[in-house]
Amino acid sequence: MCGIIGYIGDKQAAPILLDGLEKLEYRGYDSAGLSLLDDGKINTIKTKGKILNLRRRVDLDYSGDSCIGIGHTRWATHGKPSDINSHPHSSFDGKFSVVHNGIIENFVTLRQDLKNEGIRFRSETDTEVVAQLLAKHYNGDIKQTIMKVLNIIEGAYSLGILCADYPDEIWAVRNASPLIIGLGEGENFLASDITAVLKHTKEIYQLNDGEFCCLKKNSVQVFAPDGTPIEKEKVTVDWNVEAAEKGGYKHFMLKEIMEEPDAIAKTISPRLTDDNEIVLDDFSLTKEKLENIKKIYILACGSAWHVGMVGKYVIEELTRIPVECDLASEFRYRNPVVDENTLAIVISQSGETADTLAALREAKSRGAKVLSIVNVVGSTIANESDDVIYTWAGPEIAVATTKAYSTQLTIVYLFALYAAKLMGKIDKKEYDEIIAAIRKLPEQVAEVLKMEQDIKTIASRYVYLEHAYFIGRNLDYAVSLEASLKLKEISYIHSEAYAAGELKHGTISLIEDDTFVCALCCQERLFDKTMNSIKEVAARGAETLAVITENCPNPGEECDHIITIPSTHPLIMPSLEVIPLQLLSYYIALSRKCDIHKPRNLAKSVTVE
Ligand code: F6R
Repeated sequence: MCGIIGYIGDKQAAPILLDGLEKLEYRGYDSAGLSLLDDGKINTIKTKGKILNLRRRVDLDYSGDSCIGIGHTRWATHGKPSDINSHPHSSFDGKFSVVHNGIIENFVTLRQDLKNEGIRFRSETDTEVVAQLLAKHYNGDIKQTIMKVLNIIEGAYSLGILCADYPDEIWAVRNASPLIIGLGEGENFLASDITAVLKHTKEIYQLNDGEFCCLKKNSVQVFAPDGTPIEKEKVTVDWNVEAAEKGGYKHFMLKEIMEEPDAIAKTISPRLTDDNEIVLDDFSLTKEKLENIKKIYILACGSAWHVGMVGKYVIEELTRIPVECDLASEFRYRNPVVDENTLAIVISQSGETADTLAALREAKSRGAKVLSIVNVVGSTIANESDDVIYTWAGPEIAVATTKAYSTQLTIVYLFALYAAKLMGKIDKKEYDEIIAAIRKLPEQVAEVLKMEQDIKTIASRYVYLEHAYFIGRNLDYAVSLEASLKLKEISYIHSEAYAAGELKHGTISLIEDDTFVCALCCQERLFDKTMNSIKEVAARGAETLAVITENCPNPGEECDHIITIPSTHPLIMPSLEVIPLQLLSYYIALSRKCDIHKPRNLAKSVTVE
């Protein structure tokens, strides 16, 4: 959903901005651009395509050595990807240059009004309106001018602004789109996320909605929406630079899959004491509060929603509190039954997903307590929640989530156990058994990862697939949803997930010779049931792949392929069974020569509705 960056300091800005944009490319990659301020003049270089194209253009067209600039990588919303529609956008008088992430919702009216006044627009974007408004209202005082324009525009935006009259300043604004300020020694940065500046600093300011700031080489002044200067607290991020690099892997996705044992270990170990207690820091949900909860809503999008589907089974099983897992984009526009006895569990890797944030606000406004499970420290969802449990997955760069999904699962298990124990809903024996299973997860996930070569071989059979179906019952169904999304989003194979029992109610009519059906049979007590479904589709010509545990009987010739994984407590099984399916999707997409790092039409962080 677009990445923005800005630099001011003593070093040449262009290489720093280009490098930062490469880190942000996962947010959008259909065009990119830079504006650099040299001797009171703004130079803008922009182009359709990936950052590599921009690098070439900068090498060819720019010979300056400016130490101040802004940059952008785009995921098109208003106007097709083109050189003209690329950011930065300039004002009619060339005085202002703007990069923007988000959507200016009232841009159509504003654009028409400006056109009526004779201002000519070059692009089809909503962003150009901001640049033109700045020039129109400019009275020599940049702070006043920005405040005036912020009162006119509506929507979600983070902005980076250069003004030719202020060669020692970059201005930045945040409203409902992510933005951090990176604080260096004699240099400062703005960026859509920390990974873009991690190489230079780990100290940041998180801006709140409506706040704006002025970056100079040696200072950053933050202002409240009414223009009053405010003191911000520095946040130190403990991610390391290597975590945001590919480290020898061909794709971030594979690197992040391989990091899963470590990410899971980092997420669980600080929360488990030697005597099996679960420690959740600064957690306000006491026994009494938990006992008053009559209903839990899990709110999330995409893969995070799939974690919620696992959560529904696990939390209901252990706590006996009814759980509804709702798509955030649906929840926000219906009239959900929520009151002060409701707990909303909000799951998000980025902590910035627009629909998830809106659902959180909706639940909160109706009286619910909000517990969020988030990866990015200090993100908006984390800030607005009553309680946060962080997944310590480190930066996740690949568009297709893997390690964030896995760490979210582990937090769901820990929360369910914690609540069940506090409420006296679980006996010690079962509690200890599940804790032991969770402790063993990093080792078992590492064991599954050793099957990489076998899975690669299996994947080579499915290069030419057109359709795929993933089936399972209970928790296996919840994991099928994720397996199916993983495959479709990076390999572009049409794929669907079904509760195995549902096949007969319609979908089985689609099964014909060689239709691919992957059956997840890791809930051992339901093995025979899912095997029946396999037999039904196999009898109609389907090519079948079964994922089973080491304790399941050998399905023999009923299945064309079998992946056998270690067994664990049934509630924890999703963490093991998802791993071969992540690898399978990766290797199928790789053999189809899909751009795994930049899947078609997708961006990592969906900060627009
Ligand atoms: C799929 C994927 C997405 C995200 C979804 C929510 O691989 O990554 O479906 O899970 O966009 O994003 P977050 O977790 O950042 O709220």
